[in-house]
This record gives sequence, structure tokens and C-alpha cells, in this order.
Amino acid sequence: MSEATIQQLFDLTGKTALISGGTGHLGSAMARALAEAGARVLLTSRDEHRAQEAAAALPGKGHVGAALDHMQPDIVEKQFRDALAAVGQIDVLVNNGHEALGNDWTTVTAEQFTRHLGNATGYFVLSRLLRDHVVQRNAPGSVVLLGSMYGQVASYPDAYAGVCPGSPVAYHTLKGGLIHMTRHLAVYWGKDNVRVNCLSPGPFPSEKAPAAMVERLCTKSPMGRMGHAEELKGAIVFLASAASSYMTGQNLTIDGGWTAW
Ligand SMILES: NC(=O)c1ccc[n+]([C@@H]2O[C@H](COP(=O)([O-])OP(=O)(O)OC[C@H]3O[C@@H](n4cnc5c(N)ncnc54)[C@H](OP(=O)(O)O)[C@@H]3O)[C@@H](O)[C@H]2O)c1
Repeated sequence: MSEATIQQLFDLTGKTALISGGTGHLGSAMARALAEAGARVLLTSRDEHRAQEAAAALPGKGHVGAALDHMQPDIVEKQFRDALAAVGQIDVLVNNGHEALGNDWTTVTAEQFTRHLGNATGYFVLSRLLRDHVVQRNAPGSVVLLGSMYGQVASYPDAYAGVCPGSPVAYHTLKGGLIHMTRHLAVYWGKDNVRVNCLSPGPFPSEKAPAAMVERLCTKSPMGRMGHAEELKGAIVFLASAASSYMTGQNLTIDGGWTAW
């Protein structure tokens, strides 16, 4: 067997990658990464028009924008199938979209907590649809879940005190659970040639984040700074492509060393 070159391993030409929340802070950079690596990108948003605009702005041709709301389990399957019909095949699923929660442990209601965990339900439903689709095609598949450093370590209360609500307890519960759902699905789907991995960013605040909080997070970071969205581009292409063909059930943490302390 001839050895693949590094260019071939990272090349996504001929693959179609669905990325949810592709209009967001990190999702838009990761969508560009997938497109730059040669994939046809199926970029989704809850708003179809916004998705279409973002897909049209990606480098390369043939990208498609579609509506998808993983918090509505009764319609998400139809949305997935409609999007699939528009592109013909999907090889990679990046479960990046995320319904956020502003309430920390002091104010969160039971209903809000439960709803937040519903993000995981949506990612699971989509992941299983992708798995069934690629198995039916007898093709390999790659699923990427977005975890977080906060799925691995506790909050850093000092960063938020007096500035904004702390990182939500339901968020920590969700992200920790996603890292473990990754392992569970990877084991069940390994022989189906469907890999499941988790990409866990550390602090990548958008411009909208409170400056005082960002400053405090920087003092806690071993690298002394926040992550830039483009610093996830290499990792997402790695996980989506044959460059990670023997990797499944793992959590890849990109956090400037936050969890290394
Ligand atoms: N930024 C960070 O520091 C950081 C750190 C660790 C982990 N993460 C994770 O990285 C992912 C992206 O985060 P981000 O910072 O880029 O957040 P973001 O800018 O808020 O993007 C998330 C996107 O998710 C979409 N979304 C919201 N509700 C949805 C739903 N019900 N169904 C489908 N999509 C939905 C929204 O797009 P539409 O309005 O267009 O639907 C939104 O733009 C998330 O999973 C987040 O938890 C981020």
C-alpha cells in the first residue's frame, strides 16, 4: 500500500461537511477551514437566509446553506433529510451550533437547566442520522462534537464575579456529557467506519464578551491570552479528514494550556 502524503490526508475534496451554527463566532471560521480544505460545505443556521448568505461567502463553489434547529427534535430529522437531498451526500457532521444559556447556578430554573441539556439530544439525533446515512452508502463518516474546557474543569468564578453571571452549571453538565457521549458513540460505530470525536475549545471569547471578564481570563491562561477563532481551523480539518483516520472516541482540547495547570 502506498503511503498517503500529508496533503492527501488533510484533503477534503469530494467530501461534504455539514456544520451547524456556521454563522457563529467559531462556526464561521471552521466552515471556512472545511471549505479551504476542499470540502463542499453544508452550512446551517436556524435562519435559512442567513445560512445561504454565509454559505455563498465561503471560498470555493457549490456550498449550500440550510435551516436546522437541533433544539426542535420533531422537525430536525426532516431538516436533515431536506438538506441531504440538496447536496446528495454528507460525510462529515460538525455539531457546532449551540443554544446558549445566560443563567448560572444562582438563578437557573429547572426548566432552563433541562432545556439546555436538550442541546445534547439534538446532537445525538443528528449524529445518528449521519451514521445511518453513511452506513447505507457504505462510506466512512466523521462526527465532531463541540465540547469545552468547561466540560473538563470547573468554572473560574473570579473571572465573572461582579462582571457577569458565572459559567452556567448546565453548560458544564452539557459539555462534560458530550465528551462522554463521544466515547459511547465511537465504540458503537467504530466497526461502521464512523468516527466520533470531540473538539474542546478553551477561552475563545467573541468581541461581544465583557472586556473585564476577558482580562481576568487572560491572567489565568498559561499563554496569557485568549484563543482566536482561526486557531481551531487546523483541528477541525484534522478531525474531519483522513489525517485522523485511526482516531475515534477522543477529546481534542485547544485551550492555550488552560487545562494543563
Ligand atoms: N467561544 C468559546 O469560547 C467557546 C468555548 C468552548 C466551547 N465553545 C463551543 O463552540 C461552539 C460555537 O461557539 P461560538 O462561540 O461560536 O458561539 P456562537 O457565536 O453563539 O455560535 C453558536 C451558533 O449556534 C447557532 N444556534 C443557536 N441555537 C441553535 C439551535 N437551536 N440549533 C442550531 N443552531 C443553533 C447560532 O446560529 P444561528 O443564530 O445562525 O442559528 C449561533 O450563531 C458551541 O458549541 C460552544 O459551546 C465555544
